[in-house]
Amino acid sequence: MDSRETRSLWVFGYGSLCWHPGFQFGASTVGYIRHYVRRFWQGNSTHRGTVTKPGRVATLVEEPNGATWGVAYELTGEAALSYLETREVSLGGYTTNVVTFFPRDASLNPFPVLLYIATPSSREWAGSAPLHEIATQITQCSGPSGHNVEYLLRLAQFMREKVPEGYDEHLATLETLVRLRIKENNLCLKALMGDGPTEPQAAAAAAAAAANIRQEPQPQEERRDTFQFSTKLPPKKLRCLNV
Ligand code: SIN
Repeated sequence: MDSRETRSLWVFGYGSLCWHPGFQFGASTVGYIRHYVRRFWQGNSTHRGTVTKPGRVATLVEEPNGATWGVAYELTGEAALSYLETREVSLGGYTTNVVTFFPRDASLNPFPVLLYIATPSSREWAGSAPLHEIATQITQCSGPSGHNVEYLLRLAQFMREKVPEGYDEHLATLETLVRLRIKENNLCLKALMGDGPTEPQAAAAAAAAAANIRQEPQPQEERRDTFQFSTKLPPKKLRCLNV
């Protein structure tokens, strides 16, 4: 029987969970949810920023005609849920919601998914701001999981490559503005991007989700702390010419 017809719990990722799930899962599939749009309106001082210099990460904002594309993952054990609870709720300030997921593969029926969402009452809520200000903030912040630029660009790349039909103007405009800031300030993109998706599981997960195929659960590889690496360098060392 299709696992979507079982009692499995599925989680919908629309932010870093798309390119770095970080937990063991069974099947995964690309698709979308309705009535929400993705916005970089949640602040972050634990992964992609610090208390004194919080970064900005994605959340979902209700919009009657909106839709957000991402990936649904089938959870296979208690450990995954408690990992997500720590990462998204305790550290990220998100709360949970359950919505209907529509798989890209039209032969699959819609099914319920759990998702993590921030609202104006969430801890770290940053809210709306002009896109050029959000882009500047993202360009200037990093935290224990890596630079805020990495978060944005890996998500934009994932959407462009794996979900081309899910064009997201907010995400695409931010990507353009951030790439412009990087150029204007002569920052080193390679240093900002850290080790990211070279992680075998993240890459395999992205490929599997895009192809709508079942992936065997893998032991999670330790993610290298790119923050520790980059903060040991004086800021000017992030400039390409000095690396
Ligand atoms: C998600 O990816 O679905 C939640 C937001 C995040 O952790 O980036």
